[in-house]
Amino acid sequence: MREDTQYTIRKASQKDFEAIFPIFEEIVEKGETYAYARDTDYDEAYHIWMEVPQETFAVEAAGEIIATYYLKPNQPGQGAHVCNCGYMVASHARGRGIAATMCLHSQQRALALGYRAMQFNLVASSNTAAVALWHKMGFETVGRLPGAFAHPKLGEVDALVMYKVLTEMGSGL
Ligand SMILES: CC(C)(COP(=O)(O)OP(=O)(O)OC[C@H]1O[C@@H](n2cnc3c(N)ncnc32)[C@H](O)[C@@H]1OP(=O)(O)O)[C@@H](O)C(=O)NCCC(=O)NCCS
Repeated sequence: MREDTQYTIRKASQKDFEAIFPIFEEIVEKGETYAYARDTDYDEAYHIWMEVPQETFAVEAAGEIIATYYLKPNQPGQGAHVCNCGYMVASHARGRGIAATMCLHSQQRALALGYRAMQFNLVASSNTAAVALWHKMGFETVGRLPGAFAHPKLGEVDALVMYKVLTEMGSGL
């Protein structure tokens, strides 16, 4: 994995969200990768990204927050041993291995919290960067939902359900 830049991953604070929101906003406004409403405002984004998840992390390089991810149970009750994560990297910080590092970090956190597997529920099949990355990180496409993602430019594209059983060896530990 490339780690050409010094960056740290730490728990995100309420104050950090001021720097996280522009990353969230840029990605969500495009409507190409997440199913959140494209005009999601700060308060709703704060709820989605900081309050609903069990944990939210910020990636900081040279005093700037450049990426973020959340971790939460994918389902309550009998499905709560499977987690779900969402990852966002600022456009200017992409292609440097930050998402790969966050994904490994999240798998380690998930194991530490007692999760047994990780599931991504709605990966737009058009999101080739993400699909390639998750496959590389050991996730399997276990389902294809025909036309389930309404891409603003491409129309209704298939969405993928991706899944990985977590083991210490497979999480980089
Ligand atoms: C998808 C996303 C998280 C990737 O972040 P990133 O930090 O640029 O990814 P990395 O640098 O860690 O990429 C690692 C691997 O991902 C894949 N990848 C990343 N960007 C890619 C691209 N543009 N095209 C093809 N593959 C790509 C490659 O397999 C790459 O491996 P390599 O180093 O051997 O080339 C980032 O583009 C992003 O935030 N996109 C918008 C939000 C989003 O799509 N989130 C995921 C929703 S499922």
